[in-house]
Parts: sequence; structure tokens; C-alpha cells
Amino acid sequence: MANQRTFSIIKPDATKRNLTGAIIKKFEDGGLRVVASKRIQMTREKAEGFYAVHSERPFFGELCDFMISEPVVVQVLDGENAVAKNREIMGATNPADADEGTIRKEFALSIGENSVHGSDSLENAKIEIEFFFNDAEIVG
Ligand code: CMP
Repeated sequence: MANQRTFSIIKPDATKRNLTGAIIKKFEDGGLRVVASKRIQMTREKAEGFYAVHSERPFFGELCDFMISEPVVVQVLDGENAVAKNREIMGATNPADADEGTIRKEFALSIGENSVHGSDSLENAKIEIEFFFNDAEIVG
């Protein structure tokens, strides 16, 4: 399987509870390497742009409010089959459905406050990485 890069966000519920390191350890233990990382305060404009695909969903307002409520950590993760591997490490979107040992099973509070975001495809990973990082910020 080919080497890939994927995009990750450690969300406000996790940064607020000081879980950044614990979550990064899950990625590293799972074989992914952090090749770019920054802690940012997302603006409403940025959150609405990032989640534009969900703009018609009933939870869109709540989702954007949440994503700007505390700092987030945006990252690029690199490794073999990184998109699928990251999704495996994160677990299901709803923590009630997440497998044992996954980030969402251990740390997520609810489907909204679910601790991490990860790209759902290689195509979206590229778009999402470019939404937050320029080439010089990614050092593999
Ligand atoms: P994420 O992977 O960041 O992509 C979209 C997010 O919307 C998702 O994780 C969830 O956190 C959030 N989401 C999905 N469904 C709901 C819901 N029913 N209520 C609130 N938030 C949701």
C-alpha cells in the first residue's frame, strides 16, 4: 500500500481537556508520523468554509460554534495507507459506535464533541491540507 498524507484536527473538546499529547500518541503508536502541526484559534469564516459541505445539515451552526469555542490543533499525518489508518485510529464518528482502543471510544464526549476530525478520502485530504497549510509548513 502506498504512502499517503491525510489531514487531522484535534477538536476543542480535546484541547480543552489537555488531551493533545494523548491523541498524538495514538497516531504515532498506530504508525502515522506528524509532518505538520499548528495550534490555532479557528475563525467562524474558516470553520464555515471548512465544513461547507455540511452547510445544509441541521447541526451546521452547532458544529461551527463548537469548532471556534476553543483552540484546535490542525495536523498533516503521513504513513502507509494514512487516510484509512487515521480513520481506524479515530474510530466511528459517534463514540457510541467506536471500537475499543480508538480515540473516539476513549476520549470523545458525543457525536458533536468527538475529539478529532480526519479526512474521508485521499482527494479530500489534499483539499483539507491545502486549506490550512502551505508547502513550507509540511516537513516530512
Ligand atoms: P467530522 O469528522 O469533523 O465531520 C463533520 C462533523 O459533524 C462530524 O465530525 C461530527 O462531529 C459532526 N456531526 C455529525 N453529525 C452530527 C450530529 N448529529 N450532531 C452534531 N454534530 C454532528
